[in-house]
Amino acid sequence: MCGIVGYIGVRQAQPVLFSCLKRLEYRGYDSCGIAVAGSRIEICKDAVRVAALEKSAPQLAGATGIGHTRWATHGAPSLINAHPHPDCSGKIVVVHNGIINNYQSLRKQLTAEGHQFISETDTEVIPHLVEKYYRGDLEKAVEATLKEIDGSYAIIVLAANESKLIVARRGGPLIIGVGDGENFIASDVPAVLDYTNRVIYLEDDDMGVITADSVKVKRDGVEVSRKEDKILWSMEDAQKGGYEHFMLKEIHEQPKVIRDTLIGWVSLSEEEFDLASMCGGIESMLILACGTSYHAALVGKYIMEEFLSIPIRVELASEFNYYAQALAKTGAIVITQSGETADTLKAMKKLKSVGCRVLAITNVLGSSASRIADHTIYTRAGPEISVAATKSFVAQLMVLYWLAVSYSRVDARRLADMIIQIKQLPEKVQQVLDNEDKIIESARYLSKFENVFFIGRGINYPLALEGALKLKEISYIHAEGYAAGELKHGPFALLCEKTPVIAIVAKDSTYDAMLSSIKEVKARGSPVIVLTEEGDEAVEELVDTVITLPQVDPVLSPVVNAVALQLLAYYVARKRGCPIDFPRNLAKSVTVE
Ligand code: F6R
Repeated sequence: MCGIVGYIGVRQAQPVLFSCLKRLEYRGYDSCGIAVAGSRIEICKDAVRVAALEKSAPQLAGATGIGHTRWATHGAPSLINAHPHPDCSGKIVVVHNGIINNYQSLRKQLTAEGHQFISETDTEVIPHLVEKYYRGDLEKAVEATLKEIDGSYAIIVLAANESKLIVARRGGPLIIGVGDGENFIASDVPAVLDYTNRVIYLEDDDMGVITADSVKVKRDGVEVSRKEDKILWSMEDAQKGGYEHFMLKEIHEQPKVIRDTLIGWVSLSEEEFDLASMCGGIESMLILACGTSYHAALVGKYIMEEFLSIPIRVELASEFNYYAQALAKTGAIVITQSGETADTLKAMKKLKSVGCRVLAITNVLGSSASRIADHTIYTRAGPEISVAATKSFVAQLMVLYWLAVSYSRVDARRLADMIIQIKQLPEKVQQVLDNEDKIIESARYLSKFENVFFIGRGINYPLALEGALKLKEISYIHAEGYAAGELKHGPFALLCEKTPVIAIVAKDSTYDAMLSSIKEVKARGSPVIVLTEEGDEAVEELVDTVITLPQVDPVLSPVVNAVALQLLAYYVARKRGCPIDFPRNLAKSVTVE
């Protein structure tokens, strides 16, 4: 995810571009840049935040320009990889949000034709293609370019001696902010709200020609009309896409995150990533992480033990650093959303010092974890602003499913069924999101309590831990996650009508035992809320409150359960009036031990 902006009008473009870019930093902020067309096109970019570049940038004179704030996907965050990207002549410059799938073959072909590339990005093929097709008509050159590229994009093309900007979108958001004698282009509405509240939303496959006085939109070469909307939201509302909090927005992004991470599998297999050689024959595996990522690691243990039939050891990085032995022959995976968690990085260094090969699963390209690791798999969750991890957790699970499926030792039928079911997950998660009424009702009820237990068994035991972590960190209710069978070994002493228990039930080998646990809890007077799949009559007869979730293979149930538990925690915290996105005493990236 990146943010792109453009300006054409009467003002100096540079300050406008920087002010618009600052509003888009939630979309990515590992590097940024602008290009301004005056007597010639000048570019200023670096691997810094927008405010830092604004401070250090020389004055670029001109009333037309484009800008970009980056969330790296191809090539680490660096000055070279930062946008805007020029062609060979420096007369055509492009900013891009999205991913060009066929960039490698295009780059090869363009290189053979004499084009020189300087960055590692997929984007750089675009200005070179426009250059290739440019015969004095920028519109036609961009049209020809779009026919060659396969992937998702929102782009703005700036060319010397052209008093227009060309824009196009497919799969990436793009809006035009309409002014008087000036026009603005951006990935999202907040970028332009300081200047105008008149907005045109472009649709997929639209191409636009934007001058200071006009907005012309075409599809397949034919001009179409797009209506202008008036924006009535505040800036903050707009950045959250109309959601009250970033956390809710991020929870709702999960169907897309799953889809994007699944697309990531394809590019991974292109790189011929080989877990077996990476981890020395994988006869055993160690997975390390902290917090929510640790819960993903625990789910990973169940998934991989079933699919790979090898023993998996999971450790908290913070504990591993102080006592555990690392064995050189063990394959190691670390999971970290930020890629900067101090305990996890320390554990990685310890593993490397004894000769372990380390695979990192992280959401941040170029993060410290990716630099230390021998190999990195990126989750495709996009920037996560809310302190509580939600979409990054589900993206981590998707990578673990991918690893398990790719190196599976289960029979072909089971594997084929699993792949089909994994592909259906975005729809299943959407169903959870579309049916949140029961969750909201349960959240209202739970918000009155001060202590809550979460219980699960097997692959959903880590979900009990995660449900409790989400609830305590954003609602400040004391919550504990327990393996359901362990409750009777002590915590039963706390069960009473003031201590509700959330039970996570899956239709797997743990089912009967879970039902017994629920009966035991009920007998001690605790209110029970059960998460189970639709049509579970036995559970419906047993308890008053059932949150029903779509049917999925029990191995995949952590995904739908995670989304339901995130919503539950969110609505409890909202009811209690908590500062959901920024809970007290916490930070998004824990860079101290
Ligand atoms: C909880 C949460 C934290 C992080 C933990 C590890 O919602 O976000 O528990 O999961 O601090 O962070 P990463 O994954 O960045 O290593």
